Amino acid sequence: MSSLEDYIRLYSTIVQEDTMTENGVIADKLNPSHITLKVCPPSSEVYLSIVPQLATLLKSCIDNNITMNFIQPFSIEDASAFWLSAEENVVQRKQFVIIAQESQGSSEDEADYNDSRHEQHVLESRTPIILGCVILYLAQLPNAKHRAEVGKLIVGREHRKRGIGKMLLDRMEDEARKHGRKILVLDTETGSGAELFYERLGYSKAGVIPDASLAPDGKRYTSYTYFYKRL
Ligand SMILES: CC(C)(COP(=O)(O)OP(=O)(O)OC[C@H]1O[C@@H](n2cnc3c(N)ncnc32)[C@H](O)[C@@H]1OP(=O)(O)O)[C@@H](O)C(=O)NCCC(=O)NCCS
Repeated sequence: MSSLEDYIRLYSTIVQEDTMTENGVIADKLNPSHITLKVCPPSSEVYLSIVPQLATLLKSCIDNNITMNFIQPFSIEDASAFWLSAEENVVQRKQFVIIAQESQGSSEDEADYNDSRHEQHVLESRTPIILGCVILYLAQLPNAKHRAEVGKLIVGREHRKRGIGKMLLDRMEDEARKHGRKILVLDTETGSGAELFYERLGYSKAGVIPDASLAPDGKRYTSYTYFYKRL
């Protein structure tokens, strides 16, 4: 996997798989036992193999006018570029990408995922469908080694309200604890469903910054609500 063109080619395959989910093929069989939570290992090969699906999730949010740092026009190349820019931090374990994916049904699958020697095989024959993702950013400043930031929590539209967002946050919090982090911070659009979601999951509101950013369609300013949670 060496160029953006390769990602775009792979993206076309994934769009076809997405169509499958919209027809209900995946959604029908979805229940917690069909979902696996994984932290992407610090391997370029493994990380790059999931970038096309992560890009699809991010583009879908921007296309649906969800405030997430970007504005239109926003292409799949732009979305891929965001995730590709994180590669070094993932490899250096400064940030962790946690994904929820449809289970493949055996412990062998976990081994395949975590073993980059199998990457090509995984890509070609049975790349699992990623249902959602979240990023855990470990603060790097000398006085903030106990803090982490949460970003890009996304559950695919057709998979929402089934507990996947909560599963992702639970797994992300475990990972934060594992790295000695004691407080999590994040911001989200004021008045959005995500704001209610974080409240529901025990995050405390720290405050609101009015008109902090432009909505993806460029037609209005959106406010940020800042949240924190002690671990
Ligand atoms: C926010 C998001 C991640 C929630 O994911 P999800 O898988 O639908 O959430 P869950 O099913 O795990 O819901 C957990 C709880 O939050 C509540 N919740 C989830 N979405 C909600 C919404 N839009 N409004 C109100 N409550 C909501 C659920 O009802 C559930 O409560 P319960 O335990 O009482 O049943 C998802 O809607 C999403 O991807 N949105 C677009 C991207 C986004 O805005 N991300 C946040 C950016 S910071």
